[in-house]
Amino acid sequence: MYQYNQVDQQIVHERVEQFRDQTRRYLAGELSADEFLALRLMNGLYIQRQAPMLRVAIPYGLMSAEQMRMLAHIARKYDKGYGHFTTRTNIQFNWPKLEEVPDILAELATVQMHAIQTSGNCIRNTTTDHFAGVAENELEDPRPWCEIIRQWSTLHPEFAYLPRKFKIAVTGSKEDRAASQVHDIGLHLVQNAEGEVGFEVLVGGGLGRTPVIGKVIREFLPKEDLLSYLDAILRVYNLKGRRDNKYKARIKILVEALGIDTFRDLVEAEWQYTRDTELKLTAEEIARVKGFFTPHAYEPSAKDDVSLDQQLEADADFRVWFERNTRAHKVAGYRCVVVSLKPLLGPPGDITDLQMDVVADLADRYSFSEIRSTHDQNLVLAEVRQADLYAVWKVLSEHNLARANINTLTDMIVCPGFDFCSLANAKTLNISDAINAEFENLDYLYDLGDIQLNMSGCINACGHHHVGHIGILGVDKKGEDWYQITLGGSGREDASLGKVLGKSVAADEVPSVLRKILETYIEQRTEEERFLDTVRRVGLTPFKEKVYAADH
Ligand code: HEM
Ligand code: SF4
Repeated sequence: MYQYNQVDQQIVHERVEQFRDQTRRYLAGELSADEFLALRLMNGLYIQRQAPMLRVAIPYGLMSAEQMRMLAHIARKYDKGYGHFTTRTNIQFNWPKLEEVPDILAELATVQMHAIQTSGNCIRNTTTDHFAGVAENELEDPRPWCEIIRQWSTLHPEFAYLPRKFKIAVTGSKEDRAASQVHDIGLHLVQNAEGEVGFEVLVGGGLGRTPVIGKVIREFLPKEDLLSYLDAILRVYNLKGRRDNKYKARIKILVEALGIDTFRDLVEAEWQYTRDTELKLTAEEIARVKGFFTPHAYEPSAKDDVSLDQQLEADADFRVWFERNTRAHKVAGYRCVVVSLKPLLGPPGDITDLQMDVVADLADRYSFSEIRSTHDQNLVLAEVRQADLYAVWKVLSEHNLARANINTLTDMIVCPGFDFCSLANAKTLNISDAINAEFENLDYLYDLGDIQLNMSGCINACGHHHVGHIGILGVDKKGEDWYQITLGGSGREDASLGKVLGKSVAADEVPSVLRKILETYIEQRTEEERFLDTVRRVGLTPFKEKVYAADH
């Protein structure tokens, strides 16, 4: 993985000291709350319902065991002993004390971590596939490109005050595990007719109150032009994006207003100024960054292992976990392990300090000391020898990290909702607990197959409800929590926005409504048909009839 050089390290240390002084001046009354707001947002610090909330960057979801141990230490020393992984593969701490945040940032800096550009109207953490570099059918590892974007966009003076926040995702596989089509820019590594690898570029995707699927602005961008082309898009957006209304300020609104063809023309015109400048990536620079992502020293003998088959045969629980929570690795004899942060009860994406230490130890011992965080709020140990899987599973099980529910209904994406977020309309965590209690039986979940349930506590859509196969959106009706259900969304390569099922339902009805939706699916599905495909084939009517039957 990438290692800071002296300049990176110096920037991060200087930023900590700047923020220490800003915090001191605010606490001494020398800076107003408004003046401090812009400064703290540049350092990932929100003031929320209960306390400040600190969002720490995990560049493209990749961290070392040492960094994970530091996150555990922060959770223990400065917070209430846990953290929350987000859909953009960062981690949030919900209970830091404002006066201690500079100390937290100073400790993070010692392991090459920071909170810069995790909030505010700037280019945020670039995200990617959590199986990057190890997926079987990958065209090319997207992480060096994420790192190149990270270096270009970090503290970029021209893009520090964009009209609104800006999110980029990069993928290298046909399977899109990074929700790239609902990002401001989605980059897909593709091959052209000549066999060269470059990028398909999408622009103007996003969720929030105006959900939009990104549009193709360029079918093939040569690799060396990546930064100059991104720069051109950002310049057009910076100049023409709306600043008068924050609800209309995202690039998706500009692209919709101008039309993709006009927007493309503007970008192409701008690109002529940037294309042949120092932004053109040289072969040496690309090779330098790729040098940080070379394959690990895999053991050729790993594939000769015979113990796995015996263990799968002997232990049914292990077999179920293996089937649900591990994935093929491109090297024979290795597997990718998904660490479930979706226990039976408890907020999806939450992890305790002890669990963080356990995952760090497992990474050191079994997975080249690296850990990834995923878009759907789990963790991945990406490179485990198959002979070690049983030992890894045992340890994960002991620490409630091995619930065999990956890609099932209870592997939900859920935002913190009213319990923590001051923008929320409704609670979410009580609903995810209720869903877990109702659908506790894993055999039933396996029969349902792959289902993505996403839930947000308000229209800002941090929980990606629009692109859940089942989406749940919290709404406030005269001071009470109600929930609007959507069906048929997807954030994957077949991206689509869910359609509203009907009128919203009360909090205590959500589990039974879900039960009816799933019963309808079971009645309607053809053999082996996924939930999403059934919804797409039969439409919403049978689901509506079942859910709202009593109303007729
Ligand atoms: C608790 C503090 C949080 C606040 C105040 C907050 C605020 C917001 C706001 C205002 C938006 C809408 C932006 C727009 O449409 O222009 C948004 C979108 C988003 N947030 Fe959050 N959020 C919070 C927590 C989270 C968490 C916990 C996650 C991940 C689980 C998250 C991930 C996202 C994502 C992925 C979007 C997607 C929509 C998009 O950018 O198109 N946020 N957030
Ligand atoms: S979706 Fe709404 S309630 Fe949930 S975290 Fe985002 S802003 Fe808060």
